Amino acid sequence: MQASAQAQPNIALVKYWGKQDLRHNLPATGSISITLDAPRTHTRVNFSASQERDQFLLNGKPEPAMLNRVSACLDNLRALADCPLRARVESDNDFPTGAGLASSASGFAALVVAGASALGLNLDTQQLADLARRASGSAARSLLGGFVELLLPAADGPSTPVRSLRAAHEWPLAVAIAITSSRTKSVGSTEGMERSRLTSPYYPAWVSSAEDDLAYARQAISDRDFLSLARVSEFSCLKMHALAMSSEPGLLYFNGATVECLHRIRTLRTQGVPVFFTVDAGPQVKAVCLPEALEQVGQALADVPGVQKIIRCGLGAGARLDKE
Ligand code: PMV
Repeated sequence: MQASAQAQPNIALVKYWGKQDLRHNLPATGSISITLDAPRTHTRVNFSASQERDQFLLNGKPEPAMLNRVSACLDNLRALADCPLRARVESDNDFPTGAGLASSASGFAALVVAGASALGLNLDTQQLADLARRASGSAARSLLGGFVELLLPAADGPSTPVRSLRAAHEWPLAVAIAITSSRTKSVGSTEGMERSRLTSPYYPAWVSSAEDDLAYARQAISDRDFLSLARVSEFSCLKMHALAMSSEPGLLYFNGATVECLHRIRTLRTQGVPVFFTVDAGPQVKAVCLPEALEQVGQALADVPGVQKIIRCGLGAGARLDKE
């Protein structure tokens, strides 16, 4: 009863920040993302009668801080399979974990795909996406490749539809990720989102303006209109960080190098380079560009003081089982 799967992070262009229902982990707004082709999470799940309790190893080391979330995700799978067995889960990330690189997205996407297969469950993408979303809202989007939208649940239940807006090969954008710190983030996304919901005076405006951003981004993706996608993505990103900063106490995910990178990217764009930025709940900067600009963008960001490393990638496929 074992299986292994792989998944890559996704990066939200229209962000999700805030939950309408904590128990089911339901986002308050829809979101649109791109799934990357690298870096990658590999996860092996092994259910066995000799396993007394669930075990979770990240990059070869026990990771007690994540064990409860992993176990809760396995519980949902066990309930569907009517199986009481405990599991050993080994997950390897080839990038910094918990620093705003969406490691929970690729991690839980790979976990549900491997876990369902190990239990012999034959689930469709939507069922897998719901299981992933309950563990981490953004993880549902890593089930699919390319441009992905996570929609709000219909009125009659806690299922959030996930759908492909475009395959990766139909509009092969590239991404340069500027790593400006490898430290784990101080305030995780769930805690940060709740703080913003409860304390930011801007929260109602954030929620009510999301549908306009989603509609704009859908159109830009449908038209392959890079500058329109740049405009709505930077707008959503800065709005999310304004919301985080306006929480009490304020959440400041940027460091100095993050801000310098944002200026550098805007300068490149005024010089005609097709690139825009987005930043999640951590200090790394994701520069999304047309493939022909990737070298220039990567070099420009590598030159920003405080940038430690550049990860270059393209768009990729959704979570999948490893071929044995
Ligand atoms: O799904 P979580 O809990 O990892 O939260 C994701 C939050 C952001 O990455 C900042 C935005 C998003 O939509 O991915």
